[in-house]
Amino acid sequence: MNTKAQELMSRHRSIRKYKDKAVPEDIIDSILESSTKASSSGNMQAYSIIVTKDVNVKRKLSPLHFNQSMVMEAPVFITFCADFHRMRRWVKLSHAPDNFDNFMSFMIASIDAILASQNAALAAESHGLGLCYLGTTLANCGKIAKVLNCPKNVVPVVGFSLGYPDEAPKERRRLPLKGIVHYDIYKEYSDEEILTIYKDKEISGWKRYNEVPELRKMVLDSGVKNLAQIYTKLKYSRESHIEYSRTIYNCLIDQNFL
Ligand SMILES: Cc1cc2nc3c(=O)[nH]c(=O)nc-3n(C[C@H](O)[C@H](O)[C@H](O)COP(=O)(O)O)c2cc1C
Repeated sequence: MNTKAQELMSRHRSIRKYKDKAVPEDIIDSILESSTKASSSGNMQAYSIIVTKDVNVKRKLSPLHFNQSMVMEAPVFITFCADFHRMRRWVKLSHAPDNFDNFMSFMIASIDAILASQNAALAAESHGLGLCYLGTTLANCGKIAKVLNCPKNVVPVVGFSLGYPDEAPKERRRLPLKGIVHYDIYKEYSDEEILTIYKDKEISGWKRYNEVPELRKMVLDSGVKNLAQIYTKLKYSRESHIEYSRTIYNCLIDQNFL
C-alpha cells in the first residue's frame, strides 16, 4: 500500500551521531534543488538557505545551539531563514510598493522556509543521509542571525545537522491518527480520550527517560512523576518559553518584521 516516498518517510529517524565523511557537493546541490521545489506562498520563495561547512563558522554556531554535539560532528549544518530581504530589494528596484515589513510577512516567510527544509530533509534521507533538526535555531535566532551575517528581514527559523549516520536509533512512536485527525470539524476530546491518546507515549517516553543514565539522573534529581511533568518541568519550562518568546520578539523587531 505504501509508495516509495512513504516508505522513506516511515524510515525517518533523527540522527545525532555522524560518520567522519564529507557529503559530496553534487549530492548537496541535488538536495537543495529538491528543497526549492516545495510550495511557497505566491511562489515568492521568501526564504534563504545557508549551508555551513566551515569549521570556524560552526564553532561560532555551536554554543548558540547549546553545544549539541551534532553541530560540530556533522559535516554540514543547514539553516533555513525566513527571508523578505531579497524580495523587498527587488520590489524597491521595480518601484513597487513595499508591504513586507510586518508580522504577516514573517509568518509567510517562515512557512516557506519550513516547507523547504522538510523537502531538503526528505531528499537528504533518500540519499542515505541523516539529519537532526535543532530547535535552538529559533530559540537563539537573533544571535544566529548575527553569526550568519543575515541582513534585515532575514530570520533563522529552522536548521538541521546533516551527514552520514553513525547510529541506527529506534523508531520514536507517534500519537495514533485518531488523536491527531479530525474529520470535517474539530471534535473536542473527553479526558478519557486524551489519556488513551497519550498512553503509549507515556509508557515508551517514561521508559526511555529511565533507561538512559544521564536522563534517569535528571528524573530522579527533579522528582518528576510522569512524562507530562518531564515535558513541562524539565524540557519546556514556563520560564524558558517566556524567555525564548522575548528573544524571538526582540529579533523580529531588530530584523524589521515588527
Ligand atoms: C523544530 C524541531 C526542533 C528540534 N530540536 C531538537 C534539538 O534541539 N535537539 C535534538 O536532539 N532533537 C531535536 N529535534 C528532533 C526531535 O527530538 C525528534 O524529531 C523527535 O523526538 C522525533 O524523533 P524522530 O525524528 O527520530 O522520529 C527537533 C525536531 C524539530 C522538528
